[in-house]
Amino acid sequence: MALVKFGGSVSAILISILFTTLIMQSASNTPNDNPIPTQLPGRNALLMGAAWYPEQWPESRWETDLSLMESAHLNVVRITEFAWSTMEPSEGHYEFGWLDRAIRLAEKHHVAVVLGTPTATPPAWLTQKYPETLRVEPNGQRVTHGNRAHGSVTSKKYEELCRGIVEQMARRYGHDPNVVGWQFDNEYGYALMSYNDEARAEFQNWLKTRYKTIESLNQHWTTAYWSEVYDDWSEIPIPVGGHNPGLMLDWKRFVTYAWTAHQQVQIDLIRQYADTRQFITGNFMGLGFDGLDHYTISRPLTFISWDNYVGSGHLDPVANGLSHDAMRGLLGQNYWLMETQPGAVNWHAINNFLNKGEVRAMAWHAVGHGADDVNYWQWRSALNGQEEMHGTLLGPDGTPVPLFEEVAQTAKEFSDAQSAFRGTTVTSQVALLNDYESRWAIDWQKHTSQYNTLGLLQNYYGALHRIAQSIDVVSPYAPLGGYKLVVAPSLNLIPETLANHLLAYAQNGGHLVLGPRSGMKDEYNALLPQRQPGYLVESLGSRVEQYYALEKDKSVHVSGPLGSGEASVWAEQLKTSAQDAEVLLRYGQSNGWLDGQPAVASRAYGKGRITYIGAVLDEKLTKIAADWLSQKSGVTAVFGPVPDGVEVNRRVGSGKQVFVLINFSSQRQNVALPHPMTVILGSVQNGDIQLDTYGVAILLDQK
Ligand code: GLA
Repeated sequence: MALVKFGGSVSAILISILFTTLIMQSASNTPNDNPIPTQLPGRNALLMGAAWYPEQWPESRWETDLSLMESAHLNVVRITEFAWSTMEPSEGHYEFGWLDRAIRLAEKHHVAVVLGTPTATPPAWLTQKYPETLRVEPNGQRVTHGNRAHGSVTSKKYEELCRGIVEQMARRYGHDPNVVGWQFDNEYGYALMSYNDEARAEFQNWLKTRYKTIESLNQHWTTAYWSEVYDDWSEIPIPVGGHNPGLMLDWKRFVTYAWTAHQQVQIDLIRQYADTRQFITGNFMGLGFDGLDHYTISRPLTFISWDNYVGSGHLDPVANGLSHDAMRGLLGQNYWLMETQPGAVNWHAINNFLNKGEVRAMAWHAVGHGADDVNYWQWRSALNGQEEMHGTLLGPDGTPVPLFEEVAQTAKEFSDAQSAFRGTTVTSQVALLNDYESRWAIDWQKHTSQYNTLGLLQNYYGALHRIAQSIDVVSPYAPLGGYKLVVAPSLNLIPETLANHLLAYAQNGGHLVLGPRSGMKDEYNALLPQRQPGYLVESLGSRVEQYYALEKDKSVHVSGPLGSGEASVWAEQLKTSAQDAEVLLRYGQSNGWLDGQPAVASRAYGKGRITYIGAVLDEKLTKIAADWLSQKSGVTAVFGPVPDGVEVNRRVGSGKQVFVLINFSSQRQNVALPHPMTVILGSVQNGDIQLDTYGVAILLDQK
C-alpha cells in the first residue's frame, strides 16, 4: 500500500531553483509537530461547529446561543473575522473586553474558539482616513467602503494597519486556553488586487528580482512580438484583459506572492506571541477557485481549511469529492471545513435547499475525504447586512430551524464515532496532478471554448475513484514515488526540472499518464521548441505531430487494443518513433489529417511506463481507459465492490482502517462486507450494510 506524506511544492517565484528545497521545507514549516494537526490534543478527533458573530447581538443573548450549541454537540465557533470595527472602533483604540467574555462563555459551554484575523473588512474610519488602503479596480476606479475584501494587499499603509490589529489580538489571545487556532483573513480576499501605481511598482520590483536583467525578461516573454520590448522595469504594465502570456503568468505568480506575503506578516505576528499549540489556517474556496496558486500559499499553514458550498442543485459526490481531495492534497494532510452550507446559500440564481438527509451525508462525505471538522456558515443570520437570506441553524427569532435537528444528530454521531477516526488520514495508490499554472495557461488560450481543464480532471477522477475508491490530487512537484499510477490530464507546462521529476517517477516503476495539451510550454508560458510532450518525447518514444480543436458537436471515432468510443473537443495526432511504443487507440475518419493516426501511445520506460492520451475521450471510453491503466499498474480497490451510487472512502492509521459508505442514489442499497468489521454507524441486516438514500455507514477494520 502506498503511504504518501508530502507538502505542496510549487514555487511561484523561482520554480526550478527552489524546487527541491521547497519540498524539503514544507514538512518543517509546521510549528505544530502533531502528526495529524487537524486533530487537536485534548479534543474530539472529529469536531463540528458554526460561524458565530457575537458582535452582532446583545451580550445577554450569547449564553442562549452557546447553550444551544452545547446541547447540539457543536464544539467549535469561528469568530471575529469580520469584527475589526468592534475590536478597534477608532484608530489605536482597542475594545477586547467583549471578546474576552465571549471566549470565556464559549469555554464554559465546551466550545473551542477559532479567531479570524479581521483584515477582510477594514473599518470605515480606516478607509476614510487612509483612502490609499482601498483597492483600485482594473478600470481605475477605487472601490467604495461597505462591502468586504476592499483593502489592498500591496498598500504599505494597509499592511501597517493590519499589523496593528493582528498584533493586539495575538498578544491578548496567543495563550488563551480556549483559543485553539487562527484563520487568516477570509477566503484570501478572492485574490483581488489593486491596479494602482503602488501595486505596479511592487510588481516591477518582483519581476526585477526574478529576472535580474530586463534582457532576460524580454527573451523569456519574446517581447519582440508586437513591439513589446521593455528597456526599463518601470515600463511594464499590470495586465488587464488579454496580454502577453509570459506577463500574465508572472502577474498571477505575483498575486500569489502578494497574498502569501500579506499572510506571512500575520503568521509571523501570531507566531511571535502565540503558543505553538494554536494552529494557523486559511479558508480556501475549493478547486473551482484558481485566483492564486494554492500550493504556494498553503505552505506556511499548520493545515488548510476550506469553505464547501454546493450552491444550487445537490451534492455531486464526484465534483465535491475531487474538491475535497484537491484541498487535502495542498499539504497532503487532513483539513477542516471552516464553512459549509446549512441547507441553502443566498448567492445563486436558484438557492434551493438541500434535501432532508443531504446535509448529514455531505458532512460525512467530507470526513471520508479527510476532514476532521465541519463548521456551518452560519449560526444565525444578522438582522441586517448583505446576507440576510443565507441558510442558518437558527431563525431570526433565535430558535432552531428544521435543519437544526439533522445537524445536531450528525454532531452527536461525530462525537460517538470520533475515536475511530483518531490517528487516521487518507492514503491512496493513485494520484491526479493538478497544476494551477497549466490551468491558467490553457484557460487564457483555450483554442476551443469547449475545452474544460477542470472537467477533464473530473472525468478521470470519477472513472478512477470508482476503481481505486481513494485518490490523491496533488501538485506535479509533489513526491510521487508512493503511487502506482499518476495521471496528469492537462499538464500544459512541463519545464525541464518537472520533466525530470516525472521521468524519475516512471523510471522507478510508476505509471505516468499524460492527457491532451501536455508538455507544450515552459515555466515562462512560452512554447517549447519541441513537439509535445516536450522533454518527455524521447522517453515516450512518440510525439504530437499536430493538435486539432474539433468542431462543436462533431466527435471522431477512436478504436484499438484499448477499446472503442468517441473523442471530441480536442484531438492530437500522435506519431511513434520507438519500435516498442504501442498504439492503444487510433482515430477513425475525421478531418483527413487525423484519419487512421494514433490517438493514444504507451511505452514501458525504466521499471515503469509512460502513456499519452491525446484526445478528450467520452465517458465510457474514459472508464475503459481507467480500467486498463489501473490493471496495468496493479491498482486495487481499498474496500471492494459497492453498488452504483454508493461512494466508499477510507481513512487509515494507528493500526486500523475506517470506511465511510454513503448512498447517493435514490434507491435503498445493500453492501456486502468484504470481511467482518465493526459497525460504528449504520444498520446491518443478514450481514449486509443497508443504506437508504443519503444513508451513511461507518465501518472500523482493526488490522
Ligand atoms: C463565504 C464567506 C462567508 C459567507 C459565505 C456565504 O464562504 O466566507 O463569510 O459569505 O460565503 O455562503
